[in-house]
Amino acid sequence: MTSVPDTSRWTRKDFTAIEPLSVDEIQQIFEVARAFKKTLGRSQKKVPALRGKTVVNLFLEPSTRTRIAFEMAAKLLSAEVISLDMARSSTTKGETLRDTAENVQALNADMLVIRHSAAGSPGYLADRLQIPVINAGDGAHEHPTQAMLDCFTLTEHFGSLKGRRITILGDILFSRVARSNIWAMTKLGAEVTLVGPSTLVPHWFTEFGVKVSHDLRSALADAEAVMLLRIQHERQTSSHFPSLGEYTSMFGLNKTRASWLNPRAIIMHPGPINRGVEIDSDLADSDRSVILDQVTNGIAVRMAVLYLCAGAAPARSLV
Ligand code: CP
Repeated sequence: MTSVPDTSRWTRKDFTAIEPLSVDEIQQIFEVARAFKKTLGRSQKKVPALRGKTVVNLFLEPSTRTRIAFEMAAKLLSAEVISLDMARSSTTKGETLRDTAENVQALNADMLVIRHSAAGSPGYLADRLQIPVINAGDGAHEHPTQAMLDCFTLTEHFGSLKGRRITILGDILFSRVARSNIWAMTKLGAEVTLVGPSTLVPHWFTEFGVKVSHDLRSALADAEAVMLLRIQHERQTSSHFPSLGEYTSMFGLNKTRASWLNPRAIIMHPGPINRGVEIDSDLADSDRSVILDQVTNGIAVRMAVLYLCAGAAPARSLV
C-alpha cells in the first residue's frame, strides 16, 4: 500500500502558472508525484483516486509528450479521458474558446486540460469555469507542468535545488518552458543562467532574478545542469539570427562544447529535440542525458497536479 502525503494545505482549483505558486505548493506537488512514481513501479499501476471523474484534454496546438502524459496520468488515476484536437473541434467552425470550454463543462467534464497558442487563455478559462483548468502550455507564457517535471527530475539528481547552478541555453525569448522554469528554479533557490544569442536572450530577463550571458563557454563551464531549448519557429514573427546553420555553429551543443561542461553535469531538454541543431545526437543519447527521465517523470507529476486540483481527499490509500 502506498499513501499519498497530506494534501490538506492545497487550495488551488486550477494550475495555470508557476509564477503565483509558493515554495510549499511546489514541494507538495513533488511529494505527491514521488508517491505516484512509486505506484508506477508496481505491476498494478492504476489507483482509484479519480474514479468516476472525466478529464477532457483540449489541445489546440500540436503535442506528443504533454498530451500522452496527461492522458496516461488521468487513466492511471482511473479517470475517464476524452481528448479533442484542434482539427476535429468546432473551433474550426468559428466557435470561441470560451464557448468551447463552457460546453465541455456543460457536458459534465470534471477537469479541463488545455494547450493553446494564446498566452493567458488557461487563466481566462479558470476564472470562468467551476471545474479545474490545467495549463498544458499557453503561447510563450507558461508551461507549468513541464517546469514541475524538470525541477522534479533535478531534485532526483541533486536533492535540493538550493544553490545549484543551472544553465538554460537557446531560444529563451519565445519559450514558455524557459519562463516557467525560471519561476520554478529561482523559487527553489537555484542559480539560473540564460545563454544564447542576444536577440533570443535579451538582458531584461535579469529582472526575473537570473543571469544573462552570451558567453557560451563560461555559462557551460559553470553549470551543474544544462537545459537545451529548441528554436520556437512557430512563435517567431521575424528572423532573430541569420540562419539555422549559423545558430548551430554559434550555440549548438556539440562534443567540443560539451567538453567545457563539468564532467558530472547533466543534460536536459523538454523536447521535441531538433537533433543536429541545438544538440548533437550523441549528446542527447549520452549517459549524462536525462531527457527521457524528464519524459517519464511527466506522468507522475501530472498525476500529482490532477489529483491535487481535483481536491482528492488527503492521506487516502492508493490501493
Ligand atoms: N515538452 C513538450 O511540451 O512537448 P510536446 O510539445 O510534445 O507536448
